[in-house]
Amino acid sequence: MKMPAAVIGCGALANGAHLPNIATSDEIELCAVCDVRRETAVQAQKEWGAGRHETDWRAITDADDIDLIVLCTHSSLRGEIICEALRHGIAVYTEKPLAESTSEMAEILATHKETGVPVCVGHNRRSSPAMLEFKRLVDKARVEGADRGAIIDRLHEKKFKFDEEDQTQTLIRINDDVRTWKAWIYDDKAGIILQEMVHFIDLALWLNDSAPSKVYASGSNRGNFTEIISFEDGSQTTLMHSMVGNFDYPKELIEVGLRNVTICLDHHMEVRQRGLDSEPFRTSFPLGSGAEVTDKIGLESFYEAGDRFQEIRRQGGELPAMSAFPEKGHNSHLHRFAAHLRGDGENPCPLESAIEVTNIALRLLESVRSGQPIKLQPEDLLDR
Ligand SMILES: NC(=O)c1ccc[n+]([C@@H]2O[C@H](COP(=O)([O-])OP(=O)(O)OC[C@H]3O[C@@H](n4cnc5c(N)ncnc54)[C@H](O)[C@@H]3O)[C@@H](O)[C@H]2O)c1
Repeated sequence: MKMPAAVIGCGALANGAHLPNIATSDEIELCAVCDVRRETAVQAQKEWGAGRHETDWRAITDADDIDLIVLCTHSSLRGEIICEALRHGIAVYTEKPLAESTSEMAEILATHKETGVPVCVGHNRRSSPAMLEFKRLVDKARVEGADRGAIIDRLHEKKFKFDEEDQTQTLIRINDDVRTWKAWIYDDKAGIILQEMVHFIDLALWLNDSAPSKVYASGSNRGNFTEIISFEDGSQTTLMHSMVGNFDYPKELIEVGLRNVTICLDHHMEVRQRGLDSEPFRTSFPLGSGAEVTDKIGLESFYEAGDRFQEIRRQGGELPAMSAFPEKGHNSHLHRFAAHLRGDGENPCPLESAIEVTNIALRLLESVRSGQPIKLQPEDLLDR
């Protein structure tokens, strides 16, 4: 039997990811949709074949035919709905960021502990097929180190092993395009540092096996900033965000160096590595959407599909609903959580880990405002 679910907040992300993913799922049933705007709720019900629509979210949390809520409202509306759902025994998959304050997160955690009902946070990049392959290689490199020789080997001149040789150095580069943003982000006091960077802080923590110890951010919280997360073992992750880039160029690049292996994830479309001769140099992944306009694979398919969509736009033709996007793991993340609720596998992003990530985002916000580095406190690090 399919798991009965409801989506609350039927805006851009819900229509672009969760609603189509549930509508085509063999495991989850779209019983209800809810949006405070009636026409939006009605439209979503019609388009995705939901059993009913509601305009008051309490009609969902009070319902006895719903086992899972997928919460896609803006982050200003989280704790109230999540806690009410948990008290009614309904599991919640919530979009990121989990909440906007530490007190709201503490309340959600307390309610989760009290009720024992699971929550999963939509840090979905962890579940993209390319990211899982990238993580497999990082884990392998950490254990085995390079099996490919150095281009020039002067190891015999070195008498000691340096501590730095066991560190993990990571660059996460976000090529963002301000022209695509919704108006609310311009006025949002927390900006992209909270709203968007939680995805990448999550990856920074996931890719390091040491605890984060200090953070620093420089630039504007709205966009165009650099963040540094330092770890107990001396490892550093640098996150660079640019809002003056172009979305027809790949948005998300991660490059990790550890134990003389260099591994790169390029926009969830390609994973490349040098240092592990036992592994392929390059692995390509299919587009999540837009594949119908190209017969290329990997990054080439992303570029070509982008060109095709620009051409259609220039000629005033009708654009397909979606442009060229990689598979960023939304579908798999939600289904992994549904499987967990049925007793199969782990919760892909439990509350404790998301709270740690969101606390760090809030500390980075403090840092960008004060211009000072911030030492993380034990209460920031729930997941240790
Ligand atoms: N995981 C990802 O990759 C990703 C990508 C984009 C957005 N998001 C997140 O998804 C969330 C939604 O973003 P969006 O771009 O879809 O925003 P949006 O503004 O397009 O959609 C939000 C919807 O919530 C509805 N809503 C507001 N108050 C409501 C209430 N009281 N009850 C029911 N519905 C209500 C609005 O009417 C709107 O339709 C944000 O938290 C954002 O950070 C995640």
